[in-house]
Amino acid sequence: MFEGLEKICKVYRMESYAYDETPVPVRPKAAEFVVVKPRNSSEVSEILKFANERRIPVFVRGGGTGLSGGSIPTRKGIVISTERMKEIVIDRGNRVAFCQAGVTLEELSSSAERHGLSFPPRPGAEGATVGGMIATNAGGVRALKFGVMRNYVLGLEVVLADGRILKLGGKTLKNSSGYSLLHLLIGSEGTLAVITGANIRLLPPLRDMTMIAIPFRSAEDAINFALDTFLQMTPMAMEFMEDRAVRIGEEVSGTRWVSKEGGAHILAIFERKEEAEEASEIAFRHGAIDVFLPSPREQRELLELRGKIYLGLKDRIIEILDACVPPAQIPEYLRGSEELAKKYGIDMITYGHLGDGNIHQHPLLFDGWERVYPRFRKELLRLAVSFGGVISGEHGIGVLKREELREFYPEQYGLMLEIKKIFDPNMILNPDRIF
Ligand code: LAC
Ligand code: ZN
Repeated sequence: MFEGLEKICKVYRMESYAYDETPVPVRPKAAEFVVVKPRNSSEVSEILKFANERRIPVFVRGGGTGLSGGSIPTRKGIVISTERMKEIVIDRGNRVAFCQAGVTLEELSSSAERHGLSFPPRPGAEGATVGGMIATNAGGVRALKFGVMRNYVLGLEVVLADGRILKLGGKTLKNSSGYSLLHLLIGSEGTLAVITGANIRLLPPLRDMTMIAIPFRSAEDAINFALDTFLQMTPMAMEFMEDRAVRIGEEVSGTRWVSKEGGAHILAIFERKEEAEEASEIAFRHGAIDVFLPSPREQRELLELRGKIYLGLKDRIIEILDACVPPAQIPEYLRGSEELAKKYGIDMITYGHLGDGNIHQHPLLFDGWERVYPRFRKELLRLAVSFGGVISGEHGIGVLKREELREFYPEQYGLMLEIKKIFDPNMILNPDRIF
């Protein structure tokens, strides 16, 4: 099946490419696969021509940090790893970084900083790649103020299934030039084309960061504080963590949270000190147990604590969910979720991005979960949609939420499939994702 491929690119057999960060209970099994590591769009083009002529499934892999099974080769085929596509060119005058797909979040932001600029979004894992973050329209903790990947992609270089190389958009912020194929490709999870490079919008350096950490007695108090704050200012981040999540973060990071008390905790980040002060007053009005102002070193440690919660949970959970509801509907959504969980005998640990209404719910593993979990998760996601929400805010549909997408949005799903067939008539690109 793969004979002749090595004439285009060195072919590897590497078991570690059979996984990503998706929790094991829901992670799809990998089929037989080979790995190629092209350096540029011409090599990707040759690989796709080869695969398309032979109808070989192709799976694109960035940093392998995905949580929806997006980079697992689920059929016998070729894995295209973007790990060697590392070029970054900073156009400082226009505040744009051209990045090849394999540039990581860490590499992009440090390169921007070296040029006196910044890339503010923080979509989770530092090892996530530009290609992967665009493919899933990743978000993260700063979306509230700085938006998601979609808001930063000015241009794309992609390779179509038949090998044609296409450049979309450019370096301009504005673009009203017909259908935006650029935005169609953002979030398309590698099903329409392979992203090989992107022009990423950069911003001036961020001002100082001021963080406050606030324990509240209840989730209700914490959320009401956040909603009230959003009417006065837009924080950079407003992270919510239930108490158990904080304790797991403590275990994994080795850092103590600011308080032993409290049922729900907030980590909020502001660009200006005055905003943090004003928010502290709002917090006390909403029954905050206390408000802590960590030192710069403590700030880094607390962010690390927050960032490591998933690592601590990963082996104890069935899945990480990332439904997104309008922020003011979070209290109702959480109440409804709790009732549903009780009905199915499921226990969930919750944290998330309050400003975006993006809630990470982690159903804990238990014996016999397979019997009830699929029904539970469908009801839960339907609940999110009933409040005007969506089934995935940042992790993508991947292999895991296809059924819900089809069932909840039959008309949109039908149109998406028609579009898919125009771009990829032989259905070789990232099969089993979205469709
Ligand atoms: C987070 C990732 C899991 O918010 O989305 O930590
Ligand atoms: Zn998240």
